Amino acid sequence: MALRRSFALPQQLLRPAARISSGFSKQQRNGLATAVPPVTQDATGSRGPTAMVFLNMGGPSTTDEVGDFLSRLFADRDLIPLGPLQTYLGPLIAKRRTPKIVKQYSDIGGGSPIRKWSEYQCEEMCKLLDKLSPESAPHKPYVAFRYASPLTEDMYAQLLADGFGNGKGGRAVAFTQYPQYSCSTTGSSLNELWKWRTRLEGKRADGGEVDVNGSIQWSVIDRWPTHPGLVEAFARNIEDQLKTYPEDRRAGVVLLFSAHSLPMSVVNRGDPYPAEVAATVHAVMQRLNFSNPYRLCWQSQVGPSAWLGAQTSDTVQEYVKRGQTDLVLVPIAFTSDHIETLYELDLEVMEEAGNLPGVKRAESLNGNPVFIEALANLAHDHLRKGEKCSLQMTLRCQGCKSERCLEQKKFFAGQKYAPLVQ
Ligand code: FES
Repeated sequence: MALRRSFALPQQLLRPAARISSGFSKQQRNGLATAVPPVTQDATGSRGPTAMVFLNMGGPSTTDEVGDFLSRLFADRDLIPLGPLQTYLGPLIAKRRTPKIVKQYSDIGGGSPIRKWSEYQCEEMCKLLDKLSPESAPHKPYVAFRYASPLTEDMYAQLLADGFGNGKGGRAVAFTQYPQYSCSTTGSSLNELWKWRTRLEGKRADGGEVDVNGSIQWSVIDRWPTHPGLVEAFARNIEDQLKTYPEDRRAGVVLLFSAHSLPMSVVNRGDPYPAEVAATVHAVMQRLNFSNPYRLCWQSQVGPSAWLGAQTSDTVQEYVKRGQTDLVLVPIAFTSDHIETLYELDLEVMEEAGNLPGVKRAESLNGNPVFIEALANLAHDHLRKGEKCSLQMTLRCQGCKSERCLEQKKFFAGQKYAPLVQ
């Protein structure tokens, strides 16, 4: 998904530099400024350990990491299909864009906070899980990023070093941190995990459920767009922001839910993401008792091809032009701050709207305890049910021609559901 940001960057940086220095305070611009509370593991169970592996795209923690991050991003055919010239074009595009992206990360404090938040969320969730599910404790936190450190292969090597697999078996849960499923995000992370699992532990001929060699037993939490805890966490952040408006204006504030866009070629292939994002928005509005008018819009569209709209920046500008100057932007598809919130929404979109005091953004989930409790409840349910993945995971997109998708899905579906994967 960060690709879309990367593509967007040249246009953004053509704008005068002065526009980037908005009226935001240093702390608002610095995504790394917020201190993360210390974490302690509270492992008391006896039938574990269970590895809890958070999957996400990741981001460069420092500007020195931007080049490698972009190289991996442009090499990912699930995210950026560049055709047969991918291995040639990918590095070329990455190299050309690196200086500009470095500037963008500098403007949000010198790097992405996604690693900080992912590790914190996973560690805190594991502490709660140790209490909720003593039978599978201790729960050990791992993070696997698709394009930045810690990479999937490093996480897998760590799992093996920590005593999972290698004839000893052990259970691991791949827990996507994209609440809504897209083949270009969760699908790409699972393809990568499947690839490294095959390389480091060998292929199973049976579809993956029976552990004949003491390899790691994987299961997947592949989507959770309407989980009540997730909905509650979003709703409370919106309510907190609504309270900052005078009471007589509050009901008229427009809520603009913003999610990363997709090229229409991906949407038309049958990607489930747009429907799942809409489901989250509806569930949040239901929880809020439809207290405000709202729209779902899509950010980070770039390039000449058709993308799912309407675009967030256009939406804000159009409403402001019409005199609707009380708007709350709600990032609805990200579980922590990263460049799409800290730069695109907080700097670009706000500035394009004239930095009006009534145009605001709801807080991201980050270290929100309601959200972390939701993660723990979700994981507890998954462990209790003993399911390999959701039934929805077994169905490929109507237009999918990828053998990798097919094999990955068969593997994670396990013996029970593998026959459903076509
Ligand atoms: Fe969606 Fe392969 S592209 S399942």
